[in-house]
Amino acid sequence: MDRLETKDTELHQETLRLNRYLALAGVGSRRKNDELILSGAVRVNGTIVKELGSKVDPGRDRVTVNGKPVQVAHRFLYILLNKPKDCITTVRDERGRTTVMDLVRVRDRVYPVGRLDRDTTGILLLTNDGDLAHGLTHPSSEIEKMYRARLEKGITDDDLQRLRRGVRLSDGPAKAREAAVIPGTRRKEVFLTVHEGRNHLVKRMFDKLGYTIRQLERVGFAGLTTEGVARGKWRFLRQSEVQHLKSLMDKKKHTHA
Ligand code: URA
Repeated sequence: MDRLETKDTELHQETLRLNRYLALAGVGSRRKNDELILSGAVRVNGTIVKELGSKVDPGRDRVTVNGKPVQVAHRFLYILLNKPKDCITTVRDERGRTTVMDLVRVRDRVYPVGRLDRDTTGILLLTNDGDLAHGLTHPSSEIEKMYRARLEKGITDDDLQRLRRGVRLSDGPAKAREAAVIPGTRRKEVFLTVHEGRNHLVKRMFDKLGYTIRQLERVGFAGLTTEGVARGKWRFLRQSEVQHLKSLMDKKKHTHA
């Protein structure tokens, strides 16, 4: 097998060995690249790097060989952000407010997969893989999203039941696949699982039942969580996670076929 065939998947990793990066960019074999590195021809972010085994981050580092920029031809980036409050899910904001793009600084253009309200925190994916983004946000994908809603008052069992049975919103009924509180608590914290992504869906569902949400966090998206990623930070998805998302799309295609 051509060893360069693995390039898309390898590039989901945060860092690559410099000789490998150069090979993927078509500069030369790894051995030749080691020679180039030792000769001082390779710079990373403007600094000559002579150490074999140095690592580069393909999303951020700028690599040149003899002054000429080199870049891997094409790559998909898959990013998991733990979105903080006061940050909007858009690529650009005319009013100069902080956007998710200000937090995720990568050289390639990536786009948010769906959206979270400005005051909603938690998991948000970003990618430049248009097919996957489209698949994940399409209503038919029914991707599972789990939210933790902190309410201003405790919720009754009846209302949890109503969320599960479905409530009528102005743009059609909305239903939680699951809605639960932790037993023994003051019932102000509700875990809600939905399989669609209409705007302000969760807030509108609670509003319909007379509850105001004080804090909303998305704690799960298609089985992924922000575990290990601090608020405001991000990481690349692991290859297995990308495969998992793609397999959800494939499954959906087959069930709709
Ligand atoms: N539902 C909402 O009301 N807001 C979000 O940000 C996400 C889901």
